[in-house]
Amino acid sequence: MMKIGLDVEWMVLTLLGTMTDSNCVSEKMENTTIEDKPPAAADAAEDFVDPWNVTSQSQTGIDYNKLISRFGSSKIDETLLARIEKVTGKPVHHFLRRGIFFSHRDLHTILSLYEQKKPFFLYTGRGPSSEALHLGHLVPFIMTKWLQDTFDAPLVIQLTDDEKFLWKDLTLEEANRLAHENAKDIIACGFNPDKTFIFSDLDYIGQCPQFYHNMMRIQRSVTYNQIKGIFGFGDSDHIGKIAFPAVQAAPSFSSSFPVLFGGRADLPCLIPCAIDQDPYFRMTRDVAPRLGYQKPALLHSSFFPALQGAMTKMSASDPNSSIFVTDTAKQIKTKINKHAFSGGRDTVEEHRRLGGDCSVDISYQYLTFFLEDDARLEKVRADYSSGELLTGFLKKELIELLQKLMAEQQERRKAVTDEVLKHFMTPRPMLS
Ligand code: TRP
Repeated sequence: MMKIGLDVEWMVLTLLGTMTDSNCVSEKMENTTIEDKPPAAADAAEDFVDPWNVTSQSQTGIDYNKLISRFGSSKIDETLLARIEKVTGKPVHHFLRRGIFFSHRDLHTILSLYEQKKPFFLYTGRGPSSEALHLGHLVPFIMTKWLQDTFDAPLVIQLTDDEKFLWKDLTLEEANRLAHENAKDIIACGFNPDKTFIFSDLDYIGQCPQFYHNMMRIQRSVTYNQIKGIFGFGDSDHIGKIAFPAVQAAPSFSSSFPVLFGGRADLPCLIPCAIDQDPYFRMTRDVAPRLGYQKPALLHSSFFPALQGAMTKMSASDPNSSIFVTDTAKQIKTKINKHAFSGGRDTVEEHRRLGGDCSVDISYQYLTFFLEDDARLEKVRADYSSGELLTGFLKKELIELLQKLMAEQQERRKAVTDEVLKHFMTPRPMLS
């Protein structure tokens, strides 16, 4: 089994799966300790998903329907998609249409608010562990930008440099520097400068008592047993890790941003994120009513697969598994040609006879993320599956598309000066 990040090795979904939304921090998990590692045989059949590890035994990747029932979230179905289109009066983003964002919690509530012209805010984030973002990191930000544009909603983006200091071998100064570097890549995704606040935990929390107050309220509401149950921390994990989930929970509550939201504590929150972040927000949703706050709504994405195949997600710590926003046209070409897992057959003759397998072909998978044109994508799929197109064609299609998209991202990144960065990172009123 391939693994990425090895901070919490034993936490399997079977364990997470016993926690539905309502009982996620129940005492069910009371006696869970690091010794309770399920037997290897049980491990082998399961996908493994937590905030630090994502692995699957299957070349087609994680079984997302199973994940929905284990996490107790709801599937984004045709009815919900139709409602989003009705409420917003525009077609849904292809990430929603194609099931890349596939699961949610309480999205209907947010849509009803929007229908009543009541405000809500968006919250997402990034743990700054690498110099540059890769394609997988862009996915939640692309979705978030669409949501911001569509609903004209204010947005807060948390950069958890504190988290990366606690989990990785980084100094505080280095983690904080990476946060500022990453913020520029994020701004280059095109967020509204009037309605987007990007903050580093290390910079912001010390300046904002209300944020710290919410952290304290959250910390007093979650026991050590509950934290162990949700995140799988053990007796030898340092207390920084145990306290951290309150930091990621706090931005879900509008009172953590008094300057942005004029001191209002009642603004509802919608969080677009990859589904591995859900444990943080199951905890948040569990404590919210006890603090007199609303539960944040969520929109969950599937994982962006590594070049080597859908058994792992793209990881910044393995440069060969990832395409970075800083990669040159040549690097993009070489990486895809050399590393992108192919669903093609062993010989051309066999390929023509049997056709390519899109369900495992990474170039095709990436096209579903980035090729917006439905008709073109369908033609590529049909021609590859019938055996008419060889892997080389698919790769060429993807290389040209990504070269163009990354060149555009790099152009926008150049325009992000220190002044622009400072603007985005300064708290300012955001309710119009
Ligand atoms: N923990 C996330 C990471 O490591 C960063 C993060 C903080 C986040 N707050 C978030 C991600 C809210 C999604 C939504 O990348």
